[in-house]
Amino acid sequence: MANIPSEFIDQLLDRVDIVDIISPRVTLKKAGKDYQALCPFHTENTPSFTVSPNKQFYHCFGCGKHGSAIGFMMEFEGMEFVDSIETLAQMAGMEVPNQGNYQHSNKGKNLYEVMDKANRYFVNEFNQSEFAKNYIQDRGISAETYQVFQVGFAPDSWDGLIKYMPTTPQNDLMQAGLLAQNDNGRIYDKFRGRLMFPIQDKRGRVIAFGGRAVMQDQKPKYLNSPETPLFHKGKELYGLNIARKHSNAKSVIVVEGYMDVIALHQVGIKNSVATLGTATSEHHIITLLRSYEEIVFCFDGDNAGVEAAWKALVISLPVYRDDKNIRFLFLPDNHDPDTYVKEFGQEAFQQQMVNATSLSEFLLTKLKESIDLNSIDGRAKFIDKSKTYVNDLPKGQFRKLLLEEVSNLTKTKVDFILNPKTTNIQSIDQWTPIRKAIAILINQPNLVLNFPKDLAFNEIKQNGANILQEIVEFCHRSPHISSAVLLENFREHQAFSHLSSLATVSLDLNEEQMQLELKDIKKHFEKTIQKHKIARLREKKAQTELTAEEKIELVNLLTNQIT
Ligand code: UTP
Ligand code: MN
Repeated sequence: MANIPSEFIDQLLDRVDIVDIISPRVTLKKAGKDYQALCPFHTENTPSFTVSPNKQFYHCFGCGKHGSAIGFMMEFEGMEFVDSIETLAQMAGMEVPNQGNYQHSNKGKNLYEVMDKANRYFVNEFNQSEFAKNYIQDRGISAETYQVFQVGFAPDSWDGLIKYMPTTPQNDLMQAGLLAQNDNGRIYDKFRGRLMFPIQDKRGRVIAFGGRAVMQDQKPKYLNSPETPLFHKGKELYGLNIARKHSNAKSVIVVEGYMDVIALHQVGIKNSVATLGTATSEHHIITLLRSYEEIVFCFDGDNAGVEAAWKALVISLPVYRDDKNIRFLFLPDNHDPDTYVKEFGQEAFQQQMVNATSLSEFLLTKLKESIDLNSIDGRAKFIDKSKTYVNDLPKGQFRKLLLEEVSNLTKTKVDFILNPKTTNIQSIDQWTPIRKAIAILINQPNLVLNFPKDLAFNEIKQNGANILQEIVEFCHRSPHISSAVLLENFREHQAFSHLSSLATVSLDLNEEQMQLELKDIKKHFEKTIQKHKIARLREKKAQTELTAEEKIELVNLLTNQIT
């Protein structure tokens, strides 16, 4: 594959978001957890082109074209494979290496180093500034806590940072979002006279900063890093890596501000994260549900808070899972978590957590708002309103129960309301176990963790067993990759087009169901393998003598038969 190391391609696909690549070229509309558009590759009047942010994959149900971000650039811009990679790398601020000079895992090494150094500068300045330390101490934060969050301080200087990093090219500082430029072309420190909160990625690398005003009349109150190759605001959550490190709670609290996360941590509630001045995104929810059983959104009890909570609810529906919980906590008026714990203490906050509203309760209350269920008109309106939201939910118990509730409240039969979208969804019931297993793993590679890699694949003796083996082994090596990354590693494989078409299938299964399927398939294979081994040994026995070991093996196989 030219000379580009596959590890680099993995990193590239990890960094770019296919939605960002396609959206400037094709007008995308959100549809559930995916995006839809009129297909750019054939003429059509109704959209059958879909982009999945989850899988990092696009697919047209009309003409069948599909692929990753790399594939899209090739198809749409008519580029060669290598050019497509070059273009994407440039957008991501990465340099395409040659096989020869490639240092493994140097993903955007430069910018991470720049951010790390800048962070050290801010922390040094903080430690030397009585003013900054007084400010944070006045807000009730101890040294231990501000060290955990590596709170820093940007002095009120135009070139403090520039002078601190004289050997770093200004271009790099610019790319890292640490400098600003005025109309005359003059370049200066972006963050001046601000308390600095480093934003870290999941692995704890600094990728951005939030700077709080601490001087009079300073605006805006919070200045955040711009979008950079390392930082995509709508994807990151402040405090996530710290929450994971300092707490093993099963739920995570989502709050609005940096100071809320820090203040909660200070009183011992160490499992909170904050969105970064943006609304909650689907990406946030997917990320959190990967590590936590439950999300508790915490908002102010005022109108703006309830509105933000409703938005979070709507965004959650398509990615809702029966095995997880989402709840909403509304604080009393004029309080954020920071001021709340300061006034009422940690225990009162925990109590609020216990009393938080469930998603279904919030949804139903909101739907019932200003509707009279005693009148036919009211009930009709209620059904109409509910339909959209219920249909946004993936199929599963929760959706079913909610439908039942709607049906009870309106005295209308469920199937009367039920009108789910069934297009694009394939039933895999008729598939061979191998095809099913491959499809599931391509759709969600991390499920491999429940599937053995040491199965005697060669004893399965069915078409595709060797491909399944390759996929299982690959996923075991790196289970936390997207579908797109998995597939790009099979681009040269003879079954590539077959495999990538399996990625376009919308499996009508939630994660739990997929896991159950895999479990069944595993058992089926183990049975098959056993059967084949027994048959082989018996056949040999009929012709010649079995060795002592073979005899034992046969007895073992026969006494431990899987049923
Ligand atoms: P708030 O205005 O509620 O501030 O903004 P706060 O978090 O309570 O901060 P303190 O307690 O006054 O220090 C909530 C979040 O919204 C974003 C920040 O992420 C902030 O933490 N925000 C706010 C901005 O990005 N820019 C702003 O100018 C204000
Ligand atoms: Mn606050």
